[in-house]
Amino acid sequence: MRMTVADAVAATGGTLLRGDRGDAFTDATQDSRRVVPGMLFIPIKGDRDGHDFVAAALDAGAAGYLTERGDVAAAQGTFAIGVGDTLTALADLGRLARERIPDVAAITGSAGKTTTKDFLAAIVSRVAVTGVAPGSHNNEIGMPLTLVNAPDAARIVVSEIGARSPGDVRWGAELVQPTVGVVTNVGSAHLGVFGSREAIARTKGELVEALDVDGVAVLNADDALVAEMAARTRARVVTFSADGDRAADVSVAASRFAPDLSAEFVLETPVGRIECETHGAGPHILSCAAGAAAAAIALGASADDVAAGLVGTERSAHRMQLHASAGGWRVLDDAYNANPESMAAALASAAGVAGADGRTLALLGHMAELGPAAADAHRALADLHRGHGFDVVVSVGEHAELVSDNVARDPAEAAELLRRLAGGFRPGDVIVVKASRVVGLEAAVPALLEIRTDP
Ligand SMILES: Nc1ncnc2c1ncn2[C@@H]1O[C@H](COP(=O)(O)OP(=O)(O)O)[C@@H](O)[C@H]1O
Ligand SMILES: [Mg+2]
Repeated sequence: MRMTVADAVAATGGTLLRGDRGDAFTDATQDSRRVVPGMLFIPIKGDRDGHDFVAAALDAGAAGYLTERGDVAAAQGTFAIGVGDTLTALADLGRLARERIPDVAAITGSAGKTTTKDFLAAIVSRVAVTGVAPGSHNNEIGMPLTLVNAPDAARIVVSEIGARSPGDVRWGAELVQPTVGVVTNVGSAHLGVFGSREAIARTKGELVEALDVDGVAVLNADDALVAEMAARTRARVVTFSADGDRAADVSVAASRFAPDLSAEFVLETPVGRIECETHGAGPHILSCAAGAAAAAIALGASADDVAAGLVGTERSAHRMQLHASAGGWRVLDDAYNANPESMAAALASAAGVAGADGRTLALLGHMAELGPAAADAHRALADLHRGHGFDVVVSVGEHAELVSDNVARDPAEAAELLRRLAGGFRPGDVIVVKASRVVGLEAAVPALLEIRTDP
């Protein structure tokens, strides 16, 4: 979105250190490697101090930058705005952007936020100019950037709201001021920080508490803790179900999964019965699709928009991506993240797609941030893959010894160990790759796809 320096100075309460109040920028980034000419660069203090990258950002064509340290890199034709705290200033710019956007659909929940976001954005972008961030962008940097980087003419912005600790959703909702709020589910992600699922539900529900009377709360009827949030909002409530609850406003009536994991299903909705199809995903995405459809319809989407948007959605990387190897085996890359619910979903999907003569294999990394529940959760994961009859499982990361007897030290060693224990991969095999983000298990995927069976 285009903003003038005068806009930015006023919104942030900053001081123009250099440049002209009439100067302008379009969009912002905190990452100097992502600067596109004309952007605002916002240095943030992380592992390193973003101010060290101001010169690089200006070299890359940034129109100007915010700074807590004075004009550290005077470059001709650029501007510098001094602020007390760049992270606060970024939120201020997000609030300014929000005033220019009629509708914001925000999504929170333990799992399925990004999937729902991608579906919803694909549908509503057929109805109106839509802003959406790539990837998750659900924290105190990503959420304001999603607003600031929306197109000038955006009528709708779709934003994810993450919850790593109590109060996060309230903060996010105050920033993005949703007119539509979707809650996907309450699972055990970040259970370590929250202590109980009820505490997680309290936090997620802050999203629907933030809605106005003319807003719409989109709630998962299949999850009791989510359905109960209806009592916590002034907004109109719309429900969705992928689990046969035909009383829900949007429900999945029939579904069929093809061997490549694509799904054909029917949605019963307030705008009629919709024949739908999606690519490259597992059973749980029907819930995401139903939630996205319910939110999209509340924002004016037609039945045709829903069907076309769902089939056209490009899934984000490392989320239930099924890759075929030249050798005829397949790798289900769900390495983006993991918690007990999504582990269960991924293992069930993989068990369902192995060919008749193929085996089910797995590289499993640990599920992070589960607190005192971690050991039990990893023991349960072992029971789960044994229950599905996985042929060979290699585990890596914390608690790896609880998950399988085949423990590797890192993703590369894990891929190699799995290949060896399986006696090479064969046509029809399916290898599921899943772990929490910190494990970086996606690094094993190319090796799994390239490896040829030894003669
Ligand atoms: N409703 C669901 N139940 C269980 N697992 C899910 C569900 N929706 C998505 N997942 C899985 O959760 C993981 C994260 O999905 P994603 O859409 O990126 O969620 P988030 O943005 O909330 O982290 C993936 O493994 C995905 O397959
Ligand atoms: Mg996400």
